[in-house]
Amino acid sequence: MDLETFAPGSGLLEPRAALRSDAPALDLNGTWRFRLSPTANIPDDFAQPSFDDSDWGSLPVPSHWNLHGHGAPAYTNVDFPIPIDPPRVPDENPTGDYRRVFDLSEGWTGGRLRFEGADSFARIWLNGHELGFWTGSRLPAEFDAGPYLRPGRNVLAVRVHQWSAATYLEDQDMWWLPGIFRDVTLTRSTADVFVRTSYADGHATLSFEGSGRLSVPELGVADLAPGVEVPVEAEPWTAETPRLYDAVVTFPEETVRLRIGFRTISIVDGVLLANGRPLLFKGVNRHEFHPSRGRVVPYETMREDVLLMKRHNVNAVRTSHYPPHPDFLDLCDELGLWVIDECDLETHGFGEVGWRGNPTDDPRYADALLDRMRRMVERDKNHPSIIMWSLGNEAGVGRNLAVMADWTRSRDSSRPIHYEGDRSCAHTDVYSRMYASHTEVEAIGRREEAPLDDPALDARRRGMPFMQCEYAHAMGNGPGGLAEYQELFERYPRLAGGFIWEWIDHGLAHPVHEYAYGGDYGEPVHDSNFVIDGLVFPDRTPSPGLVDLKKVFEPVRFEFGDGVVRVVNGHGFVDLSHLEFVATVEENGETVAEHQLPVPAEGGEVKLPFTSGSGDGDGSEAELWLTVRAVLASDQPWAAAGHEIAWGQTRLTPTGTPTAPRPAAPGSPRRVVVDGQERHVLGDAAFDPATGRLVRLFGLDVEGPRLDLWRAPTDNDRYGGLEAKWRGLGLHRLTHRVDSVDLGDELTVRTRVAPAATDLGMLATYRWALSGDGELLLTVDIEPDGDWQDPIPRLGLTMTLPGTAVDRVTWFGRGPGEAYPDTGMSARVGRWTATIEELQTPYVYPQENGHRAGVRWASFGAFTVSGDPVFGLTARRWSADELAAASHRPDLVAGDRVHLHLDLAHQGIGTATCGPGTLPKYDLRAHPATFSLRFAPGTR
Ligand code: GAL
Repeated sequence: MDLETFAPGSGLLEPRAALRSDAPALDLNGTWRFRLSPTANIPDDFAQPSFDDSDWGSLPVPSHWNLHGHGAPAYTNVDFPIPIDPPRVPDENPTGDYRRVFDLSEGWTGGRLRFEGADSFARIWLNGHELGFWTGSRLPAEFDAGPYLRPGRNVLAVRVHQWSAATYLEDQDMWWLPGIFRDVTLTRSTADVFVRTSYADGHATLSFEGSGRLSVPELGVADLAPGVEVPVEAEPWTAETPRLYDAVVTFPEETVRLRIGFRTISIVDGVLLANGRPLLFKGVNRHEFHPSRGRVVPYETMREDVLLMKRHNVNAVRTSHYPPHPDFLDLCDELGLWVIDECDLETHGFGEVGWRGNPTDDPRYADALLDRMRRMVERDKNHPSIIMWSLGNEAGVGRNLAVMADWTRSRDSSRPIHYEGDRSCAHTDVYSRMYASHTEVEAIGRREEAPLDDPALDARRRGMPFMQCEYAHAMGNGPGGLAEYQELFERYPRLAGGFIWEWIDHGLAHPVHEYAYGGDYGEPVHDSNFVIDGLVFPDRTPSPGLVDLKKVFEPVRFEFGDGVVRVVNGHGFVDLSHLEFVATVEENGETVAEHQLPVPAEGGEVKLPFTSGSGDGDGSEAELWLTVRAVLASDQPWAAAGHEIAWGQTRLTPTGTPTAPRPAAPGSPRRVVVDGQERHVLGDAAFDPATGRLVRLFGLDVEGPRLDLWRAPTDNDRYGGLEAKWRGLGLHRLTHRVDSVDLGDELTVRTRVAPAATDLGMLATYRWALSGDGELLLTVDIEPDGDWQDPIPRLGLTMTLPGTAVDRVTWFGRGPGEAYPDTGMSARVGRWTATIEELQTPYVYPQENGHRAGVRWASFGAFTVSGDPVFGLTARRWSADELAAASHRPDLVAGDRVHLHLDLAHQGIGTATCGPGTLPKYDLRAHPATFSLRFAPGTR
């Protein structure tokens, strides 16, 4: 068999819809006999029923053989792992032979062998007769098995090659995972239907194509003939109101059931509409991924994905970059997500050779590309959740796009066509981009984008809605800049929102590294941790990026005024009557009042039962915060009553008499000898007289605090070039020089902190004093020295404590999660507590993490630190250098010290791994600053 054929397959039956049929079927999943060969050039005698496979191993179907001890996975983003020489492939071509014996009863006649997915080129034999071959890894294939089936023992043989001419069409950014990885069935179903529905201005219609008779009992539709359109009294389907109706289509030989929804997608004046109302995507890109099974995703895990998305205010999913398992689309119909279904096509690696030989423009590949589009559209055409067809991803430009688009339009004109890779939009209905900056998105929102050379195409594109099919690259810590994108999407009607890249980290479970990424299996060509760029960790624990996204996407906004809160309904299709509003007042993090607020169904102003707090007592320090939370009033299929969907917070002014600030009755530092060593002593603190550095505090051995500018680079720092600049400056190896240590009323230590080989530095002056109640007051004045050009990682103090001294940290400030200048939208002011372990965010590739922002005070057990202004807090059992040196989670091992970072400021995060860096307002520039901290014994 010619693996290097351009033909997409042979012997295949016409593609048809995925349907639930009562026709007899045999599930052929399970344990198959299996043998792996390193090359494709081997005899195919194994396909004969008499072949003796007793010395073969076994393999589960569905699965990927290289996740079951046969070979190893490999990860590349853009690069092909084989030479670019279409349609030729190397002789080194892992080839898996599969055999499955099944029994048929006497009465069984006819049937189709249906494969939902095999990666990437498969040949099939039944009882020694070759039925054909197919390509298109994530697409179904059906063969007529009837002529060769027999009662009793049947032998099905399949040979799967990893590389073929079709490999050039499947260069998606993901692990290369061959094998029969979706379900296999023998089915007697042959039915196909295409149900057509619409919904506009309160009117719905129904018709269908195919044969048989259609009934929808709930709508009073019985035995509808094909091609007849009827009006129906139906409620619309939207992602917010996923109303489905059970439909039955009867044929002489079988009955199929499907769940249909009524909706119309349209584009009017360049605005994307669903049922006549603007549609704003709050979307994510989802690859199919499971940490130990690869692209074999159990049903419960698919459901978990949809539930997690819904619970985080996500309303849309792009099935990057191939049609998913059909069950996933049923879940989107049922639970409510708008879907862009994407064809299994990416030829990105040709970009590395100037797009020479790109299959997208090669007529010899036209049939294969069209075949992929047809098989997707035919399989998925009945899903109300699917509202756009995407031709593929990053496949360059070329004539075959027209072939795909033209056929799709003629088959289904009800869904707009999407493709990002052709900026001219010649074949699409929407203008889609990836990673466009905020500035560019705003220009497009205003229809002021740079023109195309061709005026006709330009005018056409200018009339299209705009979306970002990928933005905000969620790799490692981040993404930053989400709130600013959302603000633009909500401001300009032309902007239909976008889809975060991406849903999940594709970290494969690994015995040593916990999660593996590119290179961990010794791949000669790989893209390292670029596959670890999701909103959830590989085990689907939400990362801080997802928690922030929930806040940014929230469909209710609270705007506080004097004694009122203005409620804005950000839903597209429903009012607010399914919610309850709970208002809580906290004084220094302790709840002092809680009220239920009325819910204005359409939004509007609500009077607040409080404008200020009770505030008796310490008015000088009291902080009163009002938090209003919108929660589900009753259970929904995707979350229980009480689930929070949005919140807002504002600070109230305390009443009551402010107490006078505590008088400072400073004691003076003294020079004493402690345990034979000379020390400067101030209250319960001791300092090294030579360096002026704190060595003991409230009975603990401490090191520091001293000025620090370094952080373990984030992926965004690294890929965006900041890390290289910082290392170039030497910010990871600062030297410290003490210029003077003066004893007076205060202990004053003047220092200069600077990296080698440059004249840049920071002058830091520490002043230590004692308050009347034994608290230590530290004021640090920081003055940049020299011409600092680039942003710096952080500006703050680092100190260490004995590891046994701290177990848990309690703080009043923003929490509970991490926050950086352009992330942490989900962090609200409150009183929070966490163990040191819980303060770490376990990014699969270790990097700066865990910073709590806006901290007023933090207690570590033996002592409490308060800051003025508020400060940033990080506490770890390893140093920033150890964190920077780690490349997998298990590399981080708790040491015997706790490293505290008390920060005045941090550089923003941005999304420079792919897309724009930090917005200028979040850059941290070296600047003069003063930082005051107060250290008090004990816990607060
Ligand atoms: C895009 C691509 C995605 C992914 C992303 C980077 O260009 O479409 O598949 O590679 O970049 O993570």
